[in-house]
Amino acid sequence: MALKTVPTQPFPDQKPGTSGLRKKVPVFRQPNYVENFVQAIFDTIADKDGQTLVIGGDGRFLNREVVQTAIKIAAANGFGRVLVGQGGLLSTPAASCVIRKHGAIGGLVLSASHNPGGPEGDFGIKFNTKNGGPAPESVTAAIFERAKAITEYRIADVPELDLDQLGDVTVEGMSVTVIDPVADYAALMRELVDFEAIRALFAGGFRMRFDAMSAVTGPYAKAILEGELGAAPGTVVNAVPQEDFGGHHPDPNPVHARELFDLMHGADAPDFGAASDGDGDRNMIVAPGLFVTPSDSLAILAAHAHRAPGYAGGLAGIARSMPTSRAADRVAAKLGIKAYETPTGWKFFGNLLDAGLITLCGEESAGTGSNHVREKDGLWAVLLWLDILADTGEQADAIVRAHWADFGRDYYTRHDYEEIESAAAERLMQGLRDRLGTLPGQSFAGLTIASADDFRYVDPVDGSVTERQGIRIGFAEDARVVYRLSGTGTAGATLRVYIERYDRDTHDADPATVLAPVVEAARAIAQIAEITGRSEPSVVT
Ligand code: G6P
Ligand code: ZN
Repeated sequence: MALKTVPTQPFPDQKPGTSGLRKKVPVFRQPNYVENFVQAIFDTIADKDGQTLVIGGDGRFLNREVVQTAIKIAAANGFGRVLVGQGGLLSTPAASCVIRKHGAIGGLVLSASHNPGGPEGDFGIKFNTKNGGPAPESVTAAIFERAKAITEYRIADVPELDLDQLGDVTVEGMSVTVIDPVADYAALMRELVDFEAIRALFAGGFRMRFDAMSAVTGPYAKAILEGELGAAPGTVVNAVPQEDFGGHHPDPNPVHARELFDLMHGADAPDFGAASDGDGDRNMIVAPGLFVTPSDSLAILAAHAHRAPGYAGGLAGIARSMPTSRAADRVAAKLGIKAYETPTGWKFFGNLLDAGLITLCGEESAGTGSNHVREKDGLWAVLLWLDILADTGEQADAIVRAHWADFGRDYYTRHDYEEIESAAAERLMQGLRDRLGTLPGQSFAGLTIASADDFRYVDPVDGSVTERQGIRIGFAEDARVVYRLSGTGTAGATLRVYIERYDRDTHDADPATVLAPVVEAARAIAQIAEITGRSEPSVVT
């Protein structure tokens, strides 16, 4: 048998972050870097003998190479079978779907999500467990420990596999099946949303633009929107996945999906605009003339989900990450179901979903999802929106305005200070922590602080505690500011400041105007300019 054991030395920096191990491509290209980490993952999987493993990624630079390496290491580690997406592709939600559907013991998802790709871009390896979700902290901590102590890896010494040919091959006794990356996912979508109704919508002349941002959702959106649902050819743009995303930042927000944003705000806007990110788990929704914030989108989907066949029985509960606006809570209250507030990071929804406590969940960072998989799901959100548009017969902007009329509007913006010095970022956060007790009662920019804390999460299912998840400042004027450091950056530190203000009655004001005093207060409270040297954020969304 052509199985080799190769001596190696540990790398000290293989600590998985919010979403797996994410580093610059040159870091991953160091000899044995990928091999070590993949072996460390496999070493932490008990009872893997004969089990099925899923492998796929978002098609970015290094994807194919790492898929090949991972298959060869899997073959030398006792797995019975690998399911790999054709061309090495699987969107993150599709990987979650395939893991669950085929009873796999887990999967490797190769992606750095919305971060740029290419030889100088980012790459990532994430391990998902058998529920289809990102590995919990206990598992990622074990992987890190193993990676720090690794002395050898095992690998099959075989030629490259043909990843483009659908079907089965055998690698040193392990079977490898190259699957259609779209098929299982599309089948699941057919169960959840009413394809007939959406087909009728498009047949009636409904126009849409979906920007796949030269990333992995291209093939999914083409097959489902244009292929099955009859959207006009050309509805999906930037549909061919590219290793460097065409040089773009595949992050669906008004900054990076500018073209779509502008189109939707122009005279010839189609009825609906949407985009997805590098690995297909994020989404952006734009109504004609109106960007729908991810926080609002979650709330609107929750309010209307019962229209779709998959959710006709109602929702068990709703969860949102802490910095996500409170719009979804208002819907939960009206529906008489529970609303949960979790730390940032999709993995925190896993227990709630597995325990059946929630049906829908979402995050301000453009993630929305449900209990159908254990990842957020960009295209699913778009399909659910389409189902709602088909069922109500309303225009998307009218749906949003009607929602505000019912629930009031949570004006929302996020300010990012990217690539600031890590030490300054830590100093800023620590400064806030040190002053938490003295902040209530103080006024900034005409707003009075009513509460201040550092978010601490107690998981209602397993009782685990996660501390220091972000500073929350509540104002007496029904406004809120949250500060946290990004857990996904690969250079320096990124400070995120989440700013919101609720207005029950006025819904058509300019968000920037409504939020201006809250922004001013946020800057003053944390002394952002003094500590970081930045007087303005690098990105405002
Ligand atoms: C990833 C996770 C999300 C999370 C986001 C936060 O995308 O999948 O669940 O919301 O990271 O990113 P940040 O950079 O703010 O830590
Ligand atoms: Zn993503």
